Amino acid sequence: MSIKIDKKENRITLKTKNTMYVMQILFDRFPVHLYYGKNSPKADLTYRARNTSYSPNYEEYGFTYVPNAEMVEFPFYGNGDYRADALRLRDMTSGSKVTEFIYQKARKFKGRKDIPGLPFADANENTETLELTMTDKFTGCTLKLYYTLFPECDIISRYFTLENGGNGDVRIEKCMSLSLDLPDMNYEMISFCGSHCMERIPQITPLFRGNQRVESKRGASSHQANPFIMLAANGAKEESGNVYGFNFVYSGSFLDEVETDFNGTTRVAVGLGSDNFSMLLKPGEEFSSPEAIMTFSSSGIGTVSRNMHSFIRSHILPAEKYEKRPVVLNSWEAFYFDIDEDIMIDFAKAAKECGADMLVMDDGWFGKRINDRAGLGDWYENPDRFKDGLAPFADRIHAQDVKFGIWIEPEMVNPDSDLFRAHPDWILLAPGRDPLVARHQHVLDFANPDVLEYIKNILSACFDGVAIDYFKWDMNRHMCSVYSPVLPPERQDETAYRYMLGVYELYRWLTERYPNAMIENCSGGGGRYDLGMMKYSTQIWTSDNTTPADRVFIQYGSSFGYPASTMSCHVATGIGSLEDKNKLDFGYRTALAGPLGYEFNALKATDELKKTINAQIDEYRRYEHLILRGDFYRMLNPLECGCSAYCFASDSRSELLFTLLRCGNDGGTDMLKRFTDSLKTGKSRTVPESFRVRFAAAKRNTVYKDMISGECFDGDTLRRGITVNVPKEGLYSKMMYLVED
Ligand code: DGJ
Repeated sequence: MSIKIDKKENRITLKTKNTMYVMQILFDRFPVHLYYGKNSPKADLTYRARNTSYSPNYEEYGFTYVPNAEMVEFPFYGNGDYRADALRLRDMTSGSKVTEFIYQKARKFKGRKDIPGLPFADANENTETLELTMTDKFTGCTLKLYYTLFPECDIISRYFTLENGGNGDVRIEKCMSLSLDLPDMNYEMISFCGSHCMERIPQITPLFRGNQRVESKRGASSHQANPFIMLAANGAKEESGNVYGFNFVYSGSFLDEVETDFNGTTRVAVGLGSDNFSMLLKPGEEFSSPEAIMTFSSSGIGTVSRNMHSFIRSHILPAEKYEKRPVVLNSWEAFYFDIDEDIMIDFAKAAKECGADMLVMDDGWFGKRINDRAGLGDWYENPDRFKDGLAPFADRIHAQDVKFGIWIEPEMVNPDSDLFRAHPDWILLAPGRDPLVARHQHVLDFANPDVLEYIKNILSACFDGVAIDYFKWDMNRHMCSVYSPVLPPERQDETAYRYMLGVYELYRWLTERYPNAMIENCSGGGGRYDLGMMKYSTQIWTSDNTTPADRVFIQYGSSFGYPASTMSCHVATGIGSLEDKNKLDFGYRTALAGPLGYEFNALKATDELKKTINAQIDEYRRYEHLILRGDFYRMLNPLECGCSAYCFASDSRSELLFTLLRCGNDGGTDMLKRFTDSLKTGKSRTVPESFRVRFAAAKRNTVYKDMISGECFDGDTLRRGITVNVPKEGLYSKMMYLVED
């Protein structure tokens, strides 16, 4: 077992492959944190005296236990710890929100517990869980803290359950699933903020005395913020140094909070926060927080990414539906809303001629959806466009020897729709307020079980009996006026959270009802690029920005927390003309960073272009095992030098797939420049003309042959680094497929 509960020493130790986490129960009542870092006999577990001045203490323990000066396992509001709290619980009878839970017992077990209604990581034979039970005598509540170990990925997950065993109501007013105290503050925080069409751009900020937060209040994890953050010890690099990583298995509003105090310690917490959430618990009711995860590596930022990648691949993502991920041809950038049965059948033929495996019919096939002003909510085919119905249409698509995928956006409704006309009270809207639209649409109240039931019924009436191989589930606006008419006033702060439970319920329903269909998640591109969505969707549409010179940055940022297998990459109209060989090459090589797809008007493609795409898809298939399952190494940071370079390595390191993309100051939109300027990173964006790239994944004492150029390299040389020269101007890419000779 990797969990040791030492009752004599009152100490609990958790061990994963390379990490160790240690806590101590002080005075049989306070769980304090001793250590999280490298698994080493030299780990410093000594208790360090801290400045206790002006901090209240218990008379009986004197200065041996001062809440504000301790590293604690789980901090509460109002009991003398002035730093960020993880749990704030209001006793509704007295009105007090002073919270204090006292340790009762610890137990460990194989596997894990399910978290009702929420996505959570799957256990395997190595998974073990520690459960700490604490009680609050005043409210009668029982708190259970869960630590689940995924040892082979160096991941520990955290969440809690709270049961109201008292006689009165209580309300959770702040909920953080994970809180971790670190003994120093010598870290830089790496966070991944962005915007629509420029998601997850890394931002590095040193920790300072005070509180820094990454959060979303949008009801979605969002384009603007992402729950994944890293704390990198000063001086840490891609392949060296101490680095922590944190994430949240949730897709709605969230809070990541990092606070340092006058003792120079750091507290990092991940959870639902307090601004967008509270939960009333009546006597006998129980609440489970969403799961948060953490990892550590003493060998750099790259290893933390790889820990996250392997964890997501083996414990979060759904099982693959097909032997190979289908290469899709998507209709959106080809036709936008101007689609009908005949166009789609021709498009399916063109997909086949290009060598694609699946035709995805995007927006525009249902209700009165001829533009984005109407139709959302009316999930039946537009009879003017699909005369014989969806089932025969799907059969005709399959007759072209390609799979059939279809677009849906079940959480939304247009005011101009039959659904909204029949049920204007089924949207999120505060009483007495006028609704605001975004993209001419409202958010349906998924906290209302009747709405969910209706959506399930209308979707099944539409899709039952239709041979669907893939759903693209989109979500194109964020919440405001968050209020559910079916919840009582005292439960209104639960709306956004209950909405997410509704979304997850519908995901599970869709998965069970159409077991043969894979799901691609999308939210105006990568607006819900998170572990909650990854639990149900095999891949995610990375961004609506398909300009390769921008995509390089978006994919670079996304790679820190998420594996390439989730990053849907299309060669699309953002390239400009696909007939331009240079641009097509660069776009295709940029897209070799995740599951490949195409999105352009293939009806107009020349035979020459179709031939080229066939060859690209054949080549992708040769590399696919590395892209989707290999270990990922970042080698150059495009934000620093305008050039991205990375490598996928096979398990045994006998195959390395290297890509260098020089996107520089040309070829992209000015969006990145605006964004980086606004961050004031101060980094130079001049593009050098030669780059040194080091292959940390290369094996020593071995010779690799580049199957593209025929050149041979020895592994030690690759590890020390080789120089790649790039031309002065223009888009430039270089790939090497290095195979052990
Ligand atoms: C936003 C998505 O990101 C696009 O790919 C496309 O599906 C549109 N929505 C359709 O409305």
